[in-house]
Amino acid sequence: MTASIISIASRRKRHYARIPFLHRISANGLLNWRLEPKFLAIVHTEIMLVSDLDTKDTYLACKAETIDMDLRLKGKSVLVTGASQGIGEGVARSFAEEGCHLHLVARSGDRLAAIKSEIEAAHGGQGVKVTIHPLDLTSSDVINPLVESIGDIDILVNNAGVIPSGNLWDVDESKWRAGWELKVFGYINLTRAIYPRMKARGGGVIINNIGNGGEVFDPNYVAGTTGNASLMAFTRAMGGHSLDDNIRVVGVNPGPVNTDRIYSMLKKRAKQWLGDEDRYKELEERYPLKRPAHLHEITDLIVFLASYRSGYTSGTIFTVDGGIASRRSII
Ligand SMILES: NC(=O)c1ccc[n+]([C@@H]2O[C@H](COP(=O)([O-])OP(=O)(O)OC[C@H]3O[C@@H](n4cnc5c(N)ncnc54)[C@H](OP(=O)(O)O)[C@@H]3O)[C@@H](O)[C@H]2O)c1
Repeated sequence: MTASIISIASRRKRHYARIPFLHRISANGLLNWRLEPKFLAIVHTEIMLVSDLDTKDTYLACKAETIDMDLRLKGKSVLVTGASQGIGEGVARSFAEEGCHLHLVARSGDRLAAIKSEIEAAHGGQGVKVTIHPLDLTSSDVINPLVESIGDIDILVNNAGVIPSGNLWDVDESKWRAGWELKVFGYINLTRAIYPRMKARGGGVIINNIGNGGEVFDPNYVAGTTGNASLMAFTRAMGGHSLDDNIRVVGVNPGPVNTDRIYSMLKKRAKQWLGDEDRYKELEERYPLKRPAHLHEITDLIVFLASYRSGYTSGTIFTVDGGIASRRSII
C-alpha cells in the first residue's frame, strides 16, 4: 500500500546521499520522525524521503510521492464473497498484492478459476495461494460446509450482493426476499458462522461492503436502501463490542462504483426516466467528478481497514461516495 509525499525527488538524483533518516512523514509535516536507513535528497531547504533509488528511478519520476506503507498483511488468510467480478474481484486482487492467501466465493467457477490463475501467476512468487469455492450463497446450508472447508481465516469480506433496484411495486416480495437472502442474510449467516472461530483463535476482522443506499433513502432502490440500512445497524451492533473478542467489525458504504452493476442500474434508470437506456451517460454526469468511483478507491480502503494500521476501528461505517450521502438542501 502507498501513501502521498512531496514529488520532485527524481530530478535531483545526483544529489542523493545515503544517511539514516526518516521512515514516514505524517500528514501535517514533521511529526513522527523515525530514523530509517533510507536515501535522503536535500534540495534547497526541502527535506525529502526517497527509497530504493536505482531500480525505481523511472518509477520514482512518476511516483515520487509514494512510499510503501507496510500493512503487515503478508500471509494472512482472507475470505471474499462475490469475488468473480466487480468490487469483490478488485478486493481479492488488492489483498493478493499484500501477499494474502485467498478464499474466493461466487457461483461462476470459470470466472473464479481464471482469477485464481491470474493472481497466482502474478503473486505466486510471494507464495500467495488462492482457493476457489464456486457456490450459491442464497442457500444457507452451504455456509457451514464452506466454513469447515476454509479452516482458520484472519479476514472476512462480506461483499456478494445483487439487491434489485426499483420502487416498492417494481420489486415484489419474491424478488425482495431473493435480494435479501444473498446480501442481508448472507452477511449475517457468514458472520454468525465465522465469528466464533475467529474468537477461538484470538481475533480477526470482518468487513461488510454495504452501500450508501443505506443512508440515502432512495424510493427507487427501496429494497437496497432498507437492506443496507439493516446491515449498517448489524455492523454497528456487532462491532460495538466485538473488540472484547479482539475482533473488528467494520462497514464500508460505497456510492456508485465503476462495475457492471452500476451501469446496469444507470441504464435501467435512463430507460425509466429518459425513455432511452443509451442516455445513461446523462445520469452519470450527475455523479461527483462526473464519474462513479474507481475500483481502487474502494478496494484500497477495505485493505487498509483490514490491517493493523486500523486496529482501533470497529462498529463504524466508512462512506466513500464523493459526498453524495451528505448532499442536503433546505430548498
Ligand atoms: N457497484 C456499485 O456501485 C456499488 C455501490 C455500493 C455498494 N455496492 C455493493 O457492493 C457489492 C458488490 O457489488 P458489485 O458492483 O461488485 O456487483 P457485481 O459486479 O454484480 O458482483 C456481484 C458478485 O456477487 C456474486 N454473486 C451474485 N449472486 C451470488 C450468489 N447467489 N451466490 C454467490 N455469489 C453471488 C457474483 O458472482 P456470480 O454471478 O459468479 O455468482 C459477483 O461476483 C454488492 O453487495 C453491492 O450491493 C456496489
